[in-house]
Amino acid sequence: MLTIGTLSHPSRVIVAPMAGVTDQPFRNVCRHFGAFWVVSEMITSDTRLWHTRKSQGRLCYHDEVDPRWVQIAGGEPAMLADAARQCAELGAQVIDINMGCPAKKVCNRAAGSALMRDEALVAHILAAVVRAVDVPVTLKMRLGWSRTSRNAVDIARIAEDTGISLVTVHGRTRACKFEGEADYDGIAEVKAAVSIPVVANGDIDSPRKAGEVLRHTGCDAVMVGRAAQGRPWLPAAIDYYLNTGDFKKNPDASEIKAMLVTHIIHLSQFYGEVMGVRIARKHVGWYLQSVEAPSFRKWFNTLQTTGEQVDAIEMMSASPETKQKYVA
Ligand SMILES: Cc1cc2nc3c(=O)[nH]c(=O)nc-3n(C[C@H](O)[C@H](O)[C@H](O)COP(=O)(O)O)c2cc1C
Repeated sequence: MLTIGTLSHPSRVIVAPMAGVTDQPFRNVCRHFGAFWVVSEMITSDTRLWHTRKSQGRLCYHDEVDPRWVQIAGGEPAMLADAARQCAELGAQVIDINMGCPAKKVCNRAAGSALMRDEALVAHILAAVVRAVDVPVTLKMRLGWSRTSRNAVDIARIAEDTGISLVTVHGRTRACKFEGEADYDGIAEVKAAVSIPVVANGDIDSPRKAGEVLRHTGCDAVMVGRAAQGRPWLPAAIDYYLNTGDFKKNPDASEIKAMLVTHIIHLSQFYGEVMGVRIARKHVGWYLQSVEAPSFRKWFNTLQTTGEQVDAIEMMSASPETKQKYVA
């Protein structure tokens, strides 16, 4: 059971916020396979930019399936508070604050993981956002800015004191980017230091690994990012394992084809056909990484319309079997 403020659910797996990946169509595909907790890709806290097509697509509205967990990114307490308030009015049921993103664009404007260097500012931001909304507020961070400045424990304590409902820790520092192995000892230290729920994140790519990370860190839940790309059934498979100790069978080829067709059509409806076709190539490409189909992939990337993409998936009659039968 994972509890976030007033929300509770037996699922202990969260689909990570990933810019350019966890848009509404992908969130719904993950939900289709049984994921419950899914975080939206980050949206800037600069509401003056919200009229842009990119931001419009990143907002979450009341008509999306519950629970709507929306991540905001920025570095200015008042702006973040205002963005959180507006997100909640539009339909967000949980607000997440991004202090994990190492991307230059975010860090140059002192946002994302750069904030971790300034604990006083962190305290201001968290307090301002918590005060601004009635919905629970969560924080996503790394272990620190660099190997010599690992202050996730201090920041988690600040978070707990300011009324944050849950913290997620990606077991790397900002300097590590995505290199090396996630440091689960570092995450365990954070878990031991606070009594609010702590979520372990980094390199969790199978049910077995999720179980090991939960045991090792004592965390309340796991967050899965890259491993769900092309495998949107994985978060639910991990949950199944955590709850039963058994492995769930992968969806069969016909279920995967049906999922891809629905996803491609939703992308086209959501973004318009030109962008939808391009984004669909990325998702289908990820999916095809786990099957033997290099020539199909090359050909698929030349297709220009949603109709052609749907026909191609339906024609994938050789229905390349996934390499693994079970996600272990
Ligand atoms: C393409 C991509 C986009 C990401 N975008 C975000 C984001 O918008 N907000 C955020 O907090 N983290 C973002 N992350 C980091 C992930 O949420 C996660 O912390 C990281 O990938 C480690 O988890 P993993 O090893 O399971 O992928 C992103 C990661 C990737 C690969």
